[in-house]
Amino acid sequence: MAVDPLIELRDVNKYFGELHVLQDVSLTVGRGEVVVVIGPSGSGKSTLCRAINRLEPIASGTITLDGEPLPEEGKSLARLRSEVGMVFQSFNLFAHKTVLQNISLGQVKVRRRKKDEADRRSRELLDRVGLADQADKYPAQLSGGQQQRVAIARALAMDPKALLFDEPTSALDPEMINEVLEVMRQLAHDGMTMVVVTHEMGFARSAANRVLFMADGRIVEDRTPEEFFTAPRSDRAKDFLSKILKH
Ligand SMILES: Nc1ncnc2c1ncn2[C@@H]1O[C@H](COP(=O)(O)OP(=O)(O)O)[C@@H](O)[C@H]1O
Ligand SMILES: [Mg+2]
Repeated sequence: MAVDPLIELRDVNKYFGELHVLQDVSLTVGRGEVVVVIGPSGSGKSTLCRAINRLEPIASGTITLDGEPLPEEGKSLARLRSEVGMVFQSFNLFAHKTVLQNISLGQVKVRRRKKDEADRRSRELLDRVGLADQADKYPAQLSGGQQQRVAIARALAMDPKALLFDEPTSALDPEMINEVLEVMRQLAHDGMTMVVVTHEMGFARSAANRVLFMADGRIVEDRTPEEFFTAPRSDRAKDFLSKILKH
C-alpha cells in the first residue's frame, strides 16, 4: 500500500516530571489505515493518543496532521480537536442532554451548522450505529454499549479526518463489547483512519493494518497483526502476549 500520511510523529518526547513517558516516538499513520496500539498498563498508550489530539503538550519532536503541524492554541486548536475525534473508555456524554442533543451540540458550536441540519446529520449517524430509535433518551437510560455507540456517533458528527479510541470497550460488560467493536469494524471497512488502543485481539486481527506494541514509552514493535501475533520479536511482547492470551 502506498502510504499517504495523515498523522505523523517524529521523535516525540514527553515527560511527566521525571517520568519519560514518550521516548523518541516516531510513527506514520496513513490515510485510511487502522493502527491498533497494545502494551502493558503505564506504557504510554493513552499519552500517545492525547498527544495526537494535543490534549497533552509534548517536550520535543513534531506531530503533523495532514501535513500541518498541530496548532498551539485558540481556534485552530479547537478545529484540530474536531478533526481528530476521540473516544474514551468512559463515554463522557452530557447526562442532562438527550442522545440527539449530545450529537448535535458540537456540530452547532464548532461546525456552525444550523440546528435542523445538525439534527438531521445526528439521526443519520444514530442509524449508522444502530440506535435510530434512541434519539430522545438520556444517556442514563442506555446500556454502556449503547452509550459508547452514541459517543462514536458524536465523534463522527464532526466529520473527523481520523478517530482515536482509547480502550473503548474496557468499561463494558462482556456482552456489550461486540456491538461496539462491530461499529468500529464497519468504520474501518469504510476507510476511516483510526488509532485504537485496545486489548481486543480479535479486533486487532480482523481490522488492523498494523499493531504497535508499546513498552516504557517506546514503540517496541510495529508489524502486521499476522506477524505480531504469530511471531513477536521482543521478549516484552512475547511476555505480554503470553499473559493476555492465557485467559
Ligand atoms: N497527568 C499525569 N501526571 C503524571 N503522570 C502521568 C499522567 N498521566 C499519565 N501518567 C503516567 O505516565 C505513564 C504512562 O501513562 P499512560 O499513557 O496513561 O499509559 P497507558 O495508557 O499505556 O496505561 C504512567 O506511568 C502514568 O502513571
Ligand atoms: Mg491508558
